[in-house]
Amino acid sequence: MIIGIDIGSTTTKAVAVSGGSVVHRIKTRASDALSSAAGALGKMLVENDIKMTGIERIMITGAGASKIKNELFGIPTGMTGEINCIGRGGIFLAGRDNIIITNIGTGTVIIDAQKDRISHLGGSGVGGGTILGLAKKLLSISDFNGIMELAARGRLKAVDLLLEDIMETDLSFLKGEASASNFGKMLDSARNEDIALGLLNMVYQVIGTLSVFAARSRNTDRIIVTGKGSGNPIGKRVLGEITDLYHVHFEYPQDAEYTTAIGAALSWEPVYV
Ligand SMILES: Nc1ncnc2c1ncn2[C@@H]1O[C@H](COP(=O)(O)OP(=O)(O)OP(=O)(O)O)[C@@H](O)[C@H]1O
Ligand SMILES: [Mg+2]
Repeated sequence: MIIGIDIGSTTTKAVAVSGGSVVHRIKTRASDALSSAAGALGKMLVENDIKMTGIERIMITGAGASKIKNELFGIPTGMTGEINCIGRGGIFLAGRDNIIITNIGTGTVIIDAQKDRISHLGGSGVGGGTILGLAKKLLSISDFNGIMELAARGRLKAVDLLLEDIMETDLSFLKGEASASNFGKMLDSARNEDIALGLLNMVYQVIGTLSVFAARSRNTDRIIVTGKGSGNPIGKRVLGEITDLYHVHFEYPQDAEYTTAIGAALSWEPVYV
């Protein structure tokens, strides 16, 4: 059994891979990288009744990976780059290679994953962390469920300047309800619900549009969406609207939140930390 640990900038994810399948998954969060990695491993072992001797090796990746300088508990421990892991994990979850992956975590990264070459196309600091940070200041809310509950009752036209506010006709392929300027209207009567929806809409519109340009640069019309942000229902709706406009389709594989950890478990670079 191989353990892949992804010490993300917000959350640490770990998976156990055995016989080519993901057999266990856990999530944890600690204030430093070593506690995150050790905690993830401990939680994986205890929750799933796994013996230490059953673990062949541990592969660590993610923002905090470089902070792990020693083998964990005497088990061969390696480190591998996050871009490579997202690519490998994305190929595994999509069940095919030659794909573009948009990983929505705290920030967003877009990757071209070919069978023998994983390349980093770019990305944006706009991601899940942006929603949470702005919601904290603008709405005094610090949890995602609270943001989602508010946004479900939001009206975009109270915060966004829509095309129909400024034009009587369509603008090429954009209809009147398209956002001409995110938060560009902001009515005095805008409620927290409207702001919450505006935030989600802005973040997923940015991510969706960047993804479209990335897909087009590689002559494809499909994007595999991974990371925690891939499971957001309002985000998926916004990406669906992007599909209607640009005809680029977004796919949401199962276990998408664990993509990077899965990619780590599937990688083996003989570089011990
Ligand atoms: N329902 C949700 N929809 C969208 N984003 C969410 C949701 N719940 C949590 N988040 C955000 O997801 C982020 C964590 O996602 P994930 O675990 O994929 O990122 P990470 O690996 O820690 O970060 P990164 O990959 O950018 O280093 C946090 O910023 C959190 O605010
Ligand atoms: Mg991540």
